[in-house]
Amino acid sequence: TQHKSYIVGNWKMNGTQADIAILKAIADAAGSDSAVDVGICPPSTLIAAFAQAAGGIGIGAQDCHAKASGAHTGCLSATMIKEAGASFSIVGHSERRADQGESDADVAAKAGALHEAGMGAILCVGETLEERDSGNAIAIVTGQLAASLPASTSGDWLSVAYEPVWAIGTGRVPVADDIAAMHAALRATLTDRLGAAGAGVRILYGGSVNPGNAVEILAIPDVGGALVGGASLKAETFLPIIQAAP
Ligand code: G3H
Repeated sequence: TQHKSYIVGNWKMNGTQADIAILKAIADAAGSDSAVDVGICPPSTLIAAFAQAAGGIGIGAQDCHAKASGAHTGCLSATMIKEAGASFSIVGHSERRADQGESDADVAAKAGALHEAGMGAILCVGETLEERDSGNAIAIVTGQLAASLPASTSGDWLSVAYEPVWAIGTGRVPVADDIAAMHAALRATLTDRLGAAGAGVRILYGGSVNPGNAVEILAIPDVGGALVGGASLKAETFLPIIQAAP
């Protein structure tokens, strides 16, 4: 069971209350498009306000803690972001793996917490430039995915995002054949672990997706959508990417 395309904007540490106007412009133009699922992950400070104005757009968080509550200063649990209005969260983004030292086990625990809270997860994996140049990117990234999947999992709440670290915010994108090969390998890992449910998990591509390359990227076999950073911050650049979804 393949789903329709899933186009998600990750606003990272950008956005203020004034930017609800951008969300509204995106929701007005694309929120009722039944051919594609659209999501936006604003900073946590904006989740509640965005959820109110989201129309048909799904609002997600950029991270959550693995625990339900406790002495974890500055962190938010899955049920907290859910109460604020998020229906899903990104976990394991390479910026958090690098800046906050998150391990595959940490990411698996966070994904499991989201599942338990009845939320969706977009689980990110991807190789560094050094790993790509070593020729072992596929083995490294499929290993990362296998180690980042929570133990008990079914398919429907989960999406995976393949984001080569060297493609994020750089304007560089892998050639289509390399994206196709990685997505096929990630699919094999998913079906290996999840059986039939693994066939329905959407695998998004992320890393310098823009209006100029979206049609080509979204047409690659087994690319089920895109996780978009910079180009999701403005309706003028995010809407053409949504419209590029097959
Ligand atoms: O989560 C989004 C990615 O890190 C991609 O960011 O589109 O700015 O390259 P980018």
